[in-house]
Amino acid sequence: MSELSRRPDDAVVGLALPHESAALHVTGHALYTDDLVHRTHRPLHAHPVCSPHAHARVTRLDPAPAMEVDGVVRVLTAEDVPGLNDAGVKHDEPLFPSEVMFVGHAVCWVLGETLEAARLGAAAVEVDYEPLPAVVSLVEAIEAESFQGARPVIERGDVDDALFGAAHVFGGTTEMAGQEHFYLETHASLALVDEAGQVFVQSSTQHPTETQEIVAHVLGRPSHDVTVQCLRMGGGFGGKEMQPHGFAAVAALGATLTGRPVRLRLTRTQDMTMTGKRHGFHATWRVGFGDDGCLLALEATLTSDGGWSLDLSEPVLARALCHLDNAYWIPHVRFHGRVARTHKTSQTAFRGFGGPQGMLVIEDVLGRCAPLLGIDPADLRRRNFYVEGQATPYGQPVRHPARVVAAWDQVVAAGDLARRREQVAAHNAAHPHTKRGLALTPVKFGISFNFTAFNQAGALVHVYKDGSVLINHGGTEMGQGLHTKMLQVAATSLGVPLARVRLAPTRTDKVPNTSATAASSSTDLNGGAIKHACDQITARLREVDAGRGLAWDKLVQEAYFGRVQLWAAGFYRTEGLHWDPVAMQGHPFKYFSYGVAAAEVEVDGFTGAYRTRRVDIVHDVGDSLSPLVDLGQIEGGFVQGLGWLTLEDLRWDETDGPGRGRLTTQSASTYKLPSIGELPDELHVALLDHAHEDGAVYGSKAVGEPPLMLALSVREALRQAAAAFGPPGTSVELASPATPEAVFWAVQRARGPACTG
Ligand code: MTE
Ligand code: MOS
Repeated sequence: MSELSRRPDDAVVGLALPHESAALHVTGHALYTDDLVHRTHRPLHAHPVCSPHAHARVTRLDPAPAMEVDGVVRVLTAEDVPGLNDAGVKHDEPLFPSEVMFVGHAVCWVLGETLEAARLGAAAVEVDYEPLPAVVSLVEAIEAESFQGARPVIERGDVDDALFGAAHVFGGTTEMAGQEHFYLETHASLALVDEAGQVFVQSSTQHPTETQEIVAHVLGRPSHDVTVQCLRMGGGFGGKEMQPHGFAAVAALGATLTGRPVRLRLTRTQDMTMTGKRHGFHATWRVGFGDDGCLLALEATLTSDGGWSLDLSEPVLARALCHLDNAYWIPHVRFHGRVARTHKTSQTAFRGFGGPQGMLVIEDVLGRCAPLLGIDPADLRRRNFYVEGQATPYGQPVRHPARVVAAWDQVVAAGDLARRREQVAAHNAAHPHTKRGLALTPVKFGISFNFTAFNQAGALVHVYKDGSVLINHGGTEMGQGLHTKMLQVAATSLGVPLARVRLAPTRTDKVPNTSATAASSSTDLNGGAIKHACDQITARLREVDAGRGLAWDKLVQEAYFGRVQLWAAGFYRTEGLHWDPVAMQGHPFKYFSYGVAAAEVEVDGFTGAYRTRRVDIVHDVGDSLSPLVDLGQIEGGFVQGLGWLTLEDLRWDETDGPGRGRLTTQSASTYKLPSIGELPDELHVALLDHAHEDGAVYGSKAVGEPPLMLALSVREALRQAAAAFGPPGTSVELASPATPEAVFWAVQRARGPACTG
């Protein structure tokens, strides 16, 4: 066992503790970025002037009328930018654009004494536009060949030959919608300038270092002039990985120009119309099976809807292509990927980061083909699982594939599936108007950033003379429980009680050059860095102790008087990773996270309405660092996936009318999120046993994103229930999201041509 993964006997990791801020969250005492406004002296408020057009040239922008409005202090435009007028890292996102690329695109920002003054000022700014043609839907973009960025291909074997020789070949198209993050806390920034002109930005950001870099390049200043702090976020879900930078830059620019603190917080409608979402995808595929139902070949072209700029679309696409295999061995593959450019918000990271979209495609393929092959879908899935010795299409050996089988068997046993399958069949035979479906799907999700350099982290651990400990690390807290785990890691490695350790907010002047808190890797990375710092301190203290077994406080005091350094910086990098983004080959992931879910649904044939009756999950988190946190992540991820796949229906105006390109689902009244009412009647979650992960911090595994994809089981159960309205062997195409309306049409199709008219 590695030094990193070995747990001491009295470990604080592994204890089922509540989230470190749980009491603050539920009592309303937890501070979020925008709460700081009330503690800030004379802040100004920022309001955007947003484009009503999906695509247009700005021919005139006159801020003068805004300055006539009471309380308006300044209007920020492109002329005010001392550095680079760009909000992204790809240099394709002008902060103050002269050509607007989507409805809601901010052309300038108004600063006011109150938010209301800024809002009225923004309404007074005069902007003339020359409308240009806009590409709105993904299919339109494909037809117009409107693409951006790289066009990666993953290839192995000889697909054409394998498809030619396959006993069964099927083809199809699979489309899926995007998803709004709908974090409870919308984007927020608060910028201040100190007496030396240095900029301090508090931001709701998953990537403080990149926010710092963008603010610095917009201001034309070096990074050391800009400090970014993130107290915590009220959810990020990937939506605050790349998207906060521009807002932070606007606030920072306003603060440097006025000398006053500037606060920028989006309303819900602004957040939904201005910021990026999960990418919708379009896929075409051809698949070949042997007579035994084994996958022989898969050719697929995935096109993602990137929106107006690249943002994270390329890495999201790469992860989608790397997850098209999910848990299945496919000897011959050719996967094409491309990013469409459309005149919509710039789509971005969202929990799973393309993984869910890739996996939806292969699960859709298997779900549609199983009836055509005459094989039970669960059998078809299981007989195609990876086995030891096989590698993914991008060349990484699949380690521990037996864990998928173990999780699958555990779900089958704990969920009493054999008996329930009979019950479903009996129900369906007896009820012409309601049908049930029971489906199992696996998850195999690669952990680490594909981009190797991001797999590093730093930490700072201070032991004070009184023996109390303060830790700081490069990761941000968005509700996922990272800080809880980091406190447990520090207490474990120093061998002190949890109460002796406090954690300070994430800021770029404490730990520099951090990666985004993303890819579910933050515990692996920051936990490794914290442990590295603590281990240095422990080694020094051990020398001071010299076998005497002194109590912690005494030992710390003695060390101080002996002039021994009581604090340390820690660093961690994941070893053994490499990735060639051109060849799309390598060993990008440290390990795979595994899970299996079984879902049972009941569909009403008259309306398409359905209920999820029961879900059983077994998920692999290694040796859990914090079982309550992990349980929360699994439940929360699953429900968020359920929302994406069954309820959340982003609609854009695709007509040629004046609203073309407008997001018509701009609030919770038109965009349906999962609520208690849509939860499964029964939800059973278990952690996979005997799952120690050697070489990861205290034997644990990442948990943040993978459980989202367990919700594919619900979609497959809905497909099977819809198919049960038709004759045996009915293959059903199901739209995503599988809203009741979509399920209704699937039922109609299953019932046969007479019903679809
Ligand atoms: N859980 C909560 N409560 N809120 C969030 O915003 N983000 C998810 C996941 N779980 C999120 C969450 C996403 S997209 C990722 S990548 C991981 O948490 C990031 O944190 P981790 O690396 O600590 O798992
Ligand atoms: Mo998560 S989508 O990697 O922030």
